[in-house]
Amino acid sequence: KRIVLLGMPGAGKGTHSAKMLARFCMCHLSTGDLLREEVRSGSEFGKKLKGIMERGELIEDEVMCNLIKQQLAKPACANGAILDGFPRTIPQAEKLDQILKQSGQSIDQAIFMNVREQVVVDRLGGRWTHLNSGRTYHYKFNPPKVHGVDDITGEPLVQREDDKEATIRNRLNVYQNKTSPIIDYYRKKGILFEVNAERPVNDIWKDIKSIVKTK
Ligand code: AP5
Ligand code: ZN
Repeated sequence: KRIVLLGMPGAGKGTHSAKMLARFCMCHLSTGDLLREEVRSGSEFGKKLKGIMERGELIEDEVMCNLIKQQLAKPACANGAILDGFPRTIPQAEKLDQILKQSGQSIDQAIFMNVREQVVVDRLGGRWTHLNSGRTYHYKFNPPKVHGVDDITGEPLVQREDDKEATIRNRLNVYQNKTSPIIDYYRKKGILFEVNAERPVNDIWKDIKSIVKTK
């Protein structure tokens, strides 16, 4: 099964991808995590990405489509994949369909995590991330057992460079202009499932679980 998770920055895509990965053993493809890994590697490519991401802009469609194509070919993704952060533009959504079609596959479900802007600004401002696993916490809504430390590995948590107020605003603008049209793209295909993502994580998770189990 191939599932796309849609929603604005801070909707909870990463939070629920981690749960889906643990529950359904699907491969988690987060383009944001992959790009941040490249930035940390210090490569020339990573240096270029860093500036774009810190401004909250999008990386070129062609670069992103090549990246996702490589990732989907991994054996671990053969049983199913959760796409978190991709596609983010209409051209990316169209290209994704083409890539999957080449191996007789398609997107089965697009889960839209619907949330208002005023809710995500608070979430992103208080987010702490465990880099190796992509697990996220929130200092108020979902605190780790020990401040600044991942519950499972005991490793330190960090704040993302793009979770600064000005960058958050720009990411939200970019989302409205470039990404939100893909909601209709999947609605027209009849595979869109909408979830109210303003509720507590456990309530959202119940809905997502039942959506994944259908079909
Ligand atoms: P990416 O990493 O994809 O960031 P994003 O879309 O901005 O989404 P976030 O990761 O910020 O939010 P999330 O929905 O995962 O929320 P989370 O679960 O962490 O992309 C980063 C950048 O990479 C882009 O800006 C772009 O530059 C580039 N990029 C990536 N993909 C690209 C592409 N395809 N094309 C071009 N460029 C691309 O939750 C957020 C916080 O809220 C956490 O603290 C969490 O604990 C808390 N929280 C979650 N759910 C709840 C809840 N229900 N109640 C209370 N708190 C909650
Ligand atoms: Zn994320």
